[in-house]
Amino acid sequence: MQYEFITVNPDAQPGGIAHIQLNRPKELNALNLELMSELKSALQGLDKNEAVKVIVLSGNEKAFAAGADIKQMAGKSAIDMYEVDQFSTWDAIKKIKKPIIAAVSGFALGGGCELAMLCDMIVASETAKFGQPEIKIGVMPGAGGTQRLTRAVGKALAMEMVLTGKFIDAAEAYRVGLINRVVPVELFLEEAFRLAAGVAEMSPVAIKLAKESVLKAFDSSLEEGLHFERKNFYLLFASEDQKEGMQAFVEKRPPVFKGK
Ligand code: CAA
Repeated sequence: MQYEFITVNPDAQPGGIAHIQLNRPKELNALNLELMSELKSALQGLDKNEAVKVIVLSGNEKAFAAGADIKQMAGKSAIDMYEVDQFSTWDAIKKIKKPIIAAVSGFALGGGCELAMLCDMIVASETAKFGQPEIKIGVMPGAGGTQRLTRAVGKALAMEMVLTGKFIDAAEAYRVGLINRVVPVELFLEEAFRLAAGVAEMSPVAIKLAKESVLKAFDSSLEEGLHFERKNFYLLFASEDQKEGMQAFVEKRPPVFKGK
């Protein structure tokens, strides 16, 4: 399928690693409605594609994404916003079962920071800047920033970033636990693929249930989360991959996972 604002490569790296690149460079990958709708549809396609195990989502060196498209939103009324419900695409992206790794270089601001946080892991270049600057244009984060940022970095820093629009650089983002690693700019995509490859070796069915279980920690009590985790653990004993993985351990050989 041909997209206007993103490029999609289902077979970017051997071993089932797909790559989606946001492709509105002149606008610093500002997330207009069309781009988000394309992204949703591409991710849903890759989620169904059995050859794909992990998805890497990147922008370019200058920008992952500089936020929702301010020019597209500027003249809208509250009712327009309600009717269009632009963040409903984000709900669909949240339901993607396969792991998504954000490869971030340059600006990850507003919706761009929120999109990176909607992914499961973040690899950043040394030039990455994360921020929720919506307050500077008279609004506030609307795609999860007040919730996911607070859970990731804690109240003090999240409050400061959301109320002042202050950016943090990649080193600070790493120190406070927002991202997984920081690498020189020329390596950010390669490093994201490397991280993806480490995940893609594992059983695809176990990966999905493990992702689902980690995410459950964000919206459940400890008791409920533990219960959910245990059910998913037991459920994996219905898979061939569990038999293969444990048998391979016993036979001291590498497992061959099938995703079944
Ligand atoms: N929406 C629309 N266009 C944007 C944009 C955005 N979020 N961010 C950048 N652009 C456009 C600029 O208007 C400019 O276009 P023109 O050349 O046609 O003027 C082009 O991208 C390049 O941007 P700059 O010239 O501003 O580049 P810079 O290097 O001087 O500054 C920047 C970079 C600091 C990121 C600056 O562009 C900026 O502050 N962008 C807006 C950041 C922002 O406020 N994001 C939050 C948006 S609201 C939101 O995301 C809500 C939500 O919760 C989902």
